[in-house]
Amino acid sequence: METKNIAHTLEKIYKEAGDFLPLNGTDYVEFYVGNAKQAAHYYKTAFGFQSYAYSGLETGNKQTASYVLKQDKIRLVLTSPLNSKHPINQHIAKHGDAVKVVALWVDDATASFNETVKRGAKPFMEPTVEKDEHGEVVRSGIYTYGETVHMFVERKNYNGLFLPGYKEWKSDYNPKSSGLKYIDHMVGNVGWNEMNIWVEWYQKVMGFINLLTFDDKQIHTEYSALMSKVMANGNGRIKFPINEPAEGKKKSQIEEYIDFYEGSGVQHIAVATDDILATVRDLKSRGVEFLSAPPKTYYDDVKVRIPNVKEDIDLLAKEGILIDCDEDGYLLQIFTKPVEDRPTLFFEVIERHGAKGFGAGNFKSLFESIEREQALRGTLDK
Ligand code: FE2
Repeated sequence: METKNIAHTLEKIYKEAGDFLPLNGTDYVEFYVGNAKQAAHYYKTAFGFQSYAYSGLETGNKQTASYVLKQDKIRLVLTSPLNSKHPINQHIAKHGDAVKVVALWVDDATASFNETVKRGAKPFMEPTVEKDEHGEVVRSGIYTYGETVHMFVERKNYNGLFLPGYKEWKSDYNPKSSGLKYIDHMVGNVGWNEMNIWVEWYQKVMGFINLLTFDDKQIHTEYSALMSKVMANGNGRIKFPINEPAEGKKKSQIEEYIDFYEGSGVQHIAVATDDILATVRDLKSRGVEFLSAPPKTYYDDVKVRIPNVKEDIDLLAKEGILIDCDEDGYLLQIFTKPVEDRPTLFFEVIERHGAKGFGAGNFKSLFESIEREQALRGTLDK
């Protein structure tokens, strides 16, 4: 498989050109959901997130309820509107429970807004200062694909828990962590012929670089195909692969997503663990459903193709964990089924051993597994 890995040149390029949008990492991911209270219970119980912060009627917020969940460096915010007039209702009606905000931690939210809007970003929120007794946070936001938003969060003058307006959320129900550590990457699905539009958008508006490219000759099964380009920021901490559907004999899973999401949006959130076997066993025991394992021949092939895997391949096979490698090492990964009734958002659990890729060697077996699910949903045939 031919891939263009230019990660090593990123630092040099940015040193020379200057990064107009320095990003420290992912700050939080906010979902708009129909029932934030119940969704919070699900992410605690099923995925091992901990109660962290809350905003709602009890904090004087009469418009929305937001539950902040934390697991190591990952922060999820689950938000529901408290009345029928709130605009969040339209987002939920159109897309179902969905990722609305991918928030990025910056040193200067005003400059981040000005630099990106100057380069063509559509504003979502002008730079806004929010204050409480712990200091102040500056936030701004721009639209990316579909109705999805990037918020820029500047918290250098803030020592509170999360954001002004939130209080600590203490709960008597505290399921233990499942070992999830940080967000490795987040993938967006966009419509037919839109991938390059958004690749160029990330290049021009956010100064990202096209790290890897996969075309439909590389990502296909007997029935369906897609194309994907991986965009990364200057320090490589933020990685956003972008997929678009491609023509095949049957319906692409990306097209299925676009149909049910009713537009472009976040397809999956990849979360990293140091011990994927323990994490996956734990998640399964909590009721998280994963895609079915590939056939035995896949693992027979892996034993030959990737001889340096430290983990016991038979144990990985038992859990249906996929294995891939590139010139820098190998990675282990597995994908959940969609976490809502619409076949839209799902999660990936990933453990990296040097590899910087995204499991391209697994795409075929992964998509065959998704196609089995599509067949059950009756969405594989055009
Ligand atoms: Fe992924």
